[in-house]
Amino acid sequence: MTIPNKVKIVEVGPRDGLQNEKQIVPTEIKIELINRLADAGIRVIEATSFVSPKWVPQMGDSTAVMQGIKKQSVTVYPVLTPNLQGFDAAIQAGATEVAIFGAASESFSRKNINCSIAESLKRFEPILSVASSLEIKVRGYVSCVVGCPYEGAIDPQKAAEVAKTLFDMGCYEVSLGDTIGVGNPASITRMIEACAKKMPIEKLAGHYHDTNGMAIANIYASLQIGMASFDASVAGLGGCPYAKGASGNVATEDVVYLLHGLGIETGIDLAKLAAIGDWISSTINRPNGAKAGRAICAGSTE
Ligand code: HMG
Ligand code: MG
Repeated sequence: MTIPNKVKIVEVGPRDGLQNEKQIVPTEIKIELINRLADAGIRVIEATSFVSPKWVPQMGDSTAVMQGIKKQSVTVYPVLTPNLQGFDAAIQAGATEVAIFGAASESFSRKNINCSIAESLKRFEPILSVASSLEIKVRGYVSCVVGCPYEGAIDPQKAAEVAKTLFDMGCYEVSLGDTIGVGNPASITRMIEACAKKMPIEKLAGHYHDTNGMAIANIYASLQIGMASFDASVAGLGGCPYAKGASGNVATEDVVYLLHGLGIETGIDLAKLAAIGDWISSTINRPNGAKAGRAICAGSTE
């Protein structure tokens, strides 16, 4: 298998990144972040979540964010919806693509969405059915595909089973979440191979948090077995409220640097992206987690 010559990047910083900031980031900053990311050539930007504000107050301004952004016709702005209530609110706010999120670990499912894996899948059914009647695309997530903060190592078969169910239910793509960043190229490869036995690898995406610094290596390993869609977060924004010390997603700047180095087209302006990473980090007063972003801003060449 040769590595793909085109890769999709799903920018999740405004959602996965900012949902984990202790401080609530002002709505205008979120809107500016999303608009600037679109200007840098990112074509899929996960903008916010329509979840319970009691559970995630950081995403409590989801309608204002969706209505405040300057939507570009070439860009999609998916949002997270855990149930029909969230889905309806997302559609009201103008969302044209949504994501549902399940887990390969029972304990994580209960902590994150307050129900079992089986109950979550039942809860997603009406979302998929209404979405299909409205021609709204639905992406699926599976969290804890290699490891869980409560249960430890997760059987690749469990991740594959949930991924296949989401795909069979109508998700156009299933993103495999190494939620706490404990995977390495060996465990990630085993897990993807288990999933790819049950559904096409072209319909799978990698969503790797970078707690142990393995995310870029995991992306490279995933590319080598044919995966061509990855989630990433500008400046490596984020963390995980349920896992002490867990880092944000792999930094988008580092992923773009890797892909361009491999001769893979992304359509993203890396210099602009690096400047955005620098700006958002200083604006919310956190260190810039993108190595390539920091190097570019410090004046080294791409
Ligand atoms: P629950 O408490 O079981 O829900 O939470 P409920 O149906 O019993 O409702 C309780 C209250 O929440 C009610 O309000 C509802 O109206 C309200 P009250 O009557 O008490 O005033 N409510 C809502 N409000 C707004 N929007 C909604 C909504 N639903 C109910 N959609 C629920 C269940 C799923 C709602 C809750 O657990 C929740 O919101 N969880 C979301 C957690 C979350 O956002 N986690 C982070 C995203 S997942 C992630 O980061 C992983 C990922 O990045 C991949 C990876 O890294 O692995 C995707
Ligand atoms: Mg995540």
